[in-house]
Amino acid sequence: MIKPKEFKKRRNQLMKIAGDNSIIILNGRSEYLRNGDVHYAYRQDSDLYYLSGFNEPDAVLVLCPGSEFGDHLMFCREADPMKIIWDGPMLGTQGVENDLGFDAAFDIKNIDQMMPKLMQGREKIMFKLGEDVAFDQKISLWMKSIESRKWHKSTVPEELMSISHAIHDMRLYKSNEEIKCMKKSADLASRAHIRMMQACQPGLYEYDLQAEFLHELTKNQSHHSYPPIIGSGDNACILHYINNNQPIKDGDMVLIDAGAEFDFYASDITRTFPANGQFSARQKDLYQVVLQSQYDAIAQVQVGNHWHAPHDAAVKTLSQGLLDLKILKGSLDQVLEEKLYAQYYMHMTGHWLGLDVHDCGDYRVDDLWIELEENMVLTVEPGLYIAQNTQAPDAWKGIGIRIEDDIQVTKKGPKILSEKAPKTVDEIESIMNQS
Ligand code: GLY
Ligand code: MN
Ligand code: MN
Repeated sequence: MIKPKEFKKRRNQLMKIAGDNSIIILNGRSEYLRNGDVHYAYRQDSDLYYLSGFNEPDAVLVLCPGSEFGDHLMFCREADPMKIIWDGPMLGTQGVENDLGFDAAFDIKNIDQMMPKLMQGREKIMFKLGEDVAFDQKISLWMKSIESRKWHKSTVPEELMSISHAIHDMRLYKSNEEIKCMKKSADLASRAHIRMMQACQPGLYEYDLQAEFLHELTKNQSHHSYPPIIGSGDNACILHYINNNQPIKDGDMVLIDAGAEFDFYASDITRTFPANGQFSARQKDLYQVVLQSQYDAIAQVQVGNHWHAPHDAAVKTLSQGLLDLKILKGSLDQVLEEKLYAQYYMHMTGHWLGLDVHDCGDYRVDDLWIELEENMVLTVEPGLYIAQNTQAPDAWKGIGIRIEDDIQVTKKGPKILSEKAPKTVDEIESIMNQS
């Protein structure tokens, strides 16, 4: 659990980046209706959460160095006794001040009246420019209100700047506490993957495994970080398959891409295993190629290597494997140059991971791939998808394999946060055949 002190440290860091003469204004998420009067489960905007630890709707965080109310301000819903009867406890303004370490919190109803005063006299207004048109418009209205009150012209801020990049750059480097949350998230998801391997048998449906996954997460106060992908047979070749409603057949491979969210932090793990607990010779051959490509890619997760190095390594090993198994013909150079592998491996080998499953952060700067640095966290997830509609020899068709782990970049090399999820052929067969 990340402590209020750490959230405050982040806010101070951001104010330092922005400068004393600026004001940072960040809007959180609202509740969204699903149907009738039922809302989607609420989750705070990741940036606002990152800077506050606050998870209630209709909040606006304001960092205003040296204001008469202090530096750390929040507008939010007032704790309403009637609402508490229906929905349970909420922090409200009192809780934000007392529990989250803010200097002052105000009823969100007063924001239009207070914001022009907070903004006037500041040189720079920093917010997530261009991300929420309605909020951009609010900022414009507050600016206009400063003008219309005919305060001295020089008190109207002249610079409007986006704060997103500064926040996203901070989020790219995980603190020790964040890594602990991510490890816990990966441990929970790993246990859920083991549970699914143990439960799997031909004749079940894909959703039966989904139920096992959700059971394991729910009883550990977690939930999924994205809709789980549970594809058997040819469904494993559909990258974003989430119907999860087909029968699992004897002889199928089952691909499960399923991660947990714990304390707001995501894990993202994929495992692939034979439905009947025993790899066929062909399944094993293809699996070993993907596994080796994952080992080779993970070995490239080193401080100073560029973002693309794991992908390059994975593609090379996968391509050689496709040639060795005679799924592709030609030379390695030709397969790489002409991207012949792409009909069986069509995605990138990973992405940043953090509060969001596809976390924020640059991949390139000035047309160059970013260099890996300590405490960045990324996924490494090579795969091969030999769908029925490909050019592959028939014997290979209907197998989709992906192996995905969550990796922390450290000075000592790659640290696999999701190491508890079994992935060698022996480990998987042994787990699936325990009585
Ligand atoms: N689970 C989505 C991904 O692997 O990127
Ligand atoms: Mn992923
Ligand atoms: Mn995934």
